[in-house]
Amino acid sequence: MHTPVSLLAFEAEKSSDHKQADAVAGVTTDAAVTDVEAAVMEGAPASFKTLDDLAKDASTCRLCSLADTRNQVVFGVGNPQADLMFIGEAPGQEEDLKGEPFVGRAGQLLDRMLHALKLDREKVYIMNTIKCRPPNNRDPRPDEVQACNLWFDQQLDMVQPKMICLLGRVAAQTILQSDAPLGSLRGRWHDYQGIPVWVTYHPAYLLRSPRQKEKSWQDMRQLQQRIQALNSSGAVA
Ligand code: URA
Repeated sequence: MHTPVSLLAFEAEKSSDHKQADAVAGVTTDAAVTDVEAAVMEGAPASFKTLDDLAKDASTCRLCSLADTRNQVVFGVGNPQADLMFIGEAPGQEEDLKGEPFVGRAGQLLDRMLHALKLDREKVYIMNTIKCRPPNNRDPRPDEVQACNLWFDQQLDMVQPKMICLLGRVAAQTILQSDAPLGSLRGRWHDYQGIPVWVTYHPAYLLRSPRQKEKSWQDMRQLQQRIQALNSSGAVA
C-alpha cells in the first residue's frame, strides 16, 4: 500500500513544527508519527486515505438495497495511478462472485481489446458505475448510482486518470448524464470533470453483435492515437 503524498506532507510538517511540543509532552517523534498514522487511518479525512483504504471501507457498504443481494462489492482493479480508466456498467454474476470487474467472457474480450492497445489490467484502472451486482443483471437504478457516487467520486479523485473510456450505453448515459443513444455518443470526445472521455461499445454487446467489432476497433485505434499523443508529450506513464 503506498503512502499518499498528503500523509507524507502531514508527517513532515509534524516532525518539524511539533517536534519540540512532542519532546515537552514526553513522546518521541517516531511514536507521535505512529499515533498520527493510526488516527488518520481510523478517523479518516478522505484526503489521507489510499485506494486500498477506500476499497476496504466500500467492502461493507450498505448505502443501497443491492447490499442485500450482492455477494461482494466489486470495487475496481488495476494501477492506482493509471492514466487511462475504463468504466463499465455494473458487476455481473462472475464479478459478484470473484470481487473483480470484468472477469467473465466480456472481461476476456476487454483484455483482448487492451492487448490491441498494448495495454493490460496492470497498466489501466477498471471499474463500474456501481459496485454491486443488480439482481438478474438489470440496469442500475438512479438511486443506486446516486448512492454509489460516494465511492465513485473518491475513486476517481484518487486515481486521477488523464482519460476515461466508457464501455457501453449504460455507463455512457450515466456518466455523461445523457439520454442520447450510444451511436451518437461514440466518435467524439466528451468531458467529465475536466477529464477527456471516449465512448465505445460494451464488450458484452460485441459478443452478441460481433459485426460491430470493426467499429469497436476503430474506436480503440482513435483512443490509442490520443494515448500516443499524451505519451509523446510525456503525460502518460
Ligand atoms: N459488465 C460490466 O459492465 N462490468 C463488469 O464488471 C462485468 C460485466
